[in-house]
Amino acid sequence: MPHKEIEQSVAALEAHKRAVADQTIADLFRADPNRFARFHIELDGLLFDFSKHRLDTTALNLLIRLARAAGLEAHRAALFAGEPINTTEHRPALHMALRNLSGRRFYAKGRDIMPEVIAERAKMEAFAEGVRNGAVRSASGAQFTDIVNIGIGGSDLGPAMAVRALSPFVPDQLRLHTVANIDGAAIGDTLKAVPLETTLFIVCSKTFTTVETITNAAAARKAVADRLGESAAAQHFCAVSAGLDRAKAFGIAESRIFAFWDWVGGRYSIWSSIGLLLAIAIGMERFEEFLAGGEDIDRHFLEAPFERNLPVLMGLIGIWCRNFLGFCSHAVIPYDERLARFPAYLQQLEMESNGKSADLSGQRVQLATAPVIFGEPGTNGQHAFFQMLHQGTDIVPVDFLVAAQPLNASPSHHILLLANCLAQSQALMQGRTLREAEAILRSQGHSAEVAAALAPHKTFSGNRPSSTFLYRQMSPRVLGQLIALYEHKVFVQGTVWNINSFDQWGVELGKELANKLAPILAGQSAIGPDLDSSTAGLIEAARMLREH
Ligand code: F6P
Repeated sequence: MPHKEIEQSVAALEAHKRAVADQTIADLFRADPNRFARFHIELDGLLFDFSKHRLDTTALNLLIRLARAAGLEAHRAALFAGEPINTTEHRPALHMALRNLSGRRFYAKGRDIMPEVIAERAKMEAFAEGVRNGAVRSASGAQFTDIVNIGIGGSDLGPAMAVRALSPFVPDQLRLHTVANIDGAAIGDTLKAVPLETTLFIVCSKTFTTVETITNAAAARKAVADRLGESAAAQHFCAVSAGLDRAKAFGIAESRIFAFWDWVGGRYSIWSSIGLLLAIAIGMERFEEFLAGGEDIDRHFLEAPFERNLPVLMGLIGIWCRNFLGFCSHAVIPYDERLARFPAYLQQLEMESNGKSADLSGQRVQLATAPVIFGEPGTNGQHAFFQMLHQGTDIVPVDFLVAAQPLNASPSHHILLLANCLAQSQALMQGRTLREAEAILRSQGHSAEVAAALAPHKTFSGNRPSSTFLYRQMSPRVLGQLIALYEHKVFVQGTVWNINSFDQWGVELGKELANKLAPILAGQSAIGPDLDSSTAGLIEAARMLREH
């Protein structure tokens, strides 16, 4: 890693930030009538507008210089070559192989992995189509009406988000459910809502050791066995896992276990058989369109020059906002009701991948890493937290996502949806000055005194950055494109921050401690002397509350 070059690039960006500190986004538009033309990219009908950022050509060029200094080209080549870039787990990260439909070769540890990827996809296709057309049936011979995906994290968020996003492509007679939480309400409410006689459960867990998933799957299996008999249960279960033996030991027939591999991270696994719920929901042909969308972006990420490379720009703009402008959160607002779970999906993707403090050599990172990602669909968010986005003391860069045309929705609603989306990014950028606010109040008939008192509350600082993704209409392909864009954005940022974006050790400590507290709460062991007084006090209080 050429450390000196990185330091020089960071210093140049810092200096440039100071030099243009007074320049607003509105100034940038005034200075350049072609700003939109120069600061947007179109890719297969997907438009990415990044003109409403505090970003000029010099900043962009310096950011690209930083990416080069951080070795982005070489790291991207290592990613696609299947080198073990997940260094703490000694694994490659090859989710791109799962959406490779064009015959490219992918190697893990020197082995061509495409034959097994293709074979597993064919097995998944036979099963998914079988469930859809009735060739795969319940124990009583009836067609499945309800499918329940049991999984958590990457084994839940992808399927849950995608089936909702693409619900217009799902046949009316198929009802889809997802269960993740260890809170018994999740599985309990689902078991009450589904007809067990015609329900298929997909147990999704890469490791097949995750306590939430195994506990929920066991509860579902017991419910099925109690109702339909032990011998019937097997026909109501299938699994997706890299832990074949553990899934078999759970009682799932090998022919119904769909594999994936240790080179697929959980949060990158929707392209694998973890997408089984989606494949059943929309059919394999459309699932392959979804894969093709991801592959479009892989090709673009590999081939486009950095200046026109969408995930590279997304990543670098995020770096500019996070590391140079000091914004520590980032909102994702899809103006699409069916993308309601997309922000949560990206939360895992970005925060689990890049929420790290140790760099690749184990040293403390030099630059701040992942911002807080949050979001809700528009227009709902406008009536909740947008107040803070417009007038709060912190600046939150926003990604807006919107389709030009609705999918099975009223066109008149859609015009209003679109107008709101565009208006929000406009309002964040342009703001309203004190003088403008006062003039409006005066024009509404308020006295000079009242206008002066109210105006500060009706003033908007503006100059708040956002990006907009505009596409023709939501489809499997567009969804695939959007997910892959964010995946590679995360990779770009992880490269610049010099961290491993593919491990997640930060989730382990809490799991370990929960395993120690559960027996204490269950009354099977006593509180030890080394337990902190807060946790001990809470355990005692919980015991009392449970007893009375
Ligand atoms: O605890 C975090 C995590 O390991 C995620 O990375 C993963 O997506 C999730 O748990 C579920 O893991 P599994 O698919 O092995 O059950």
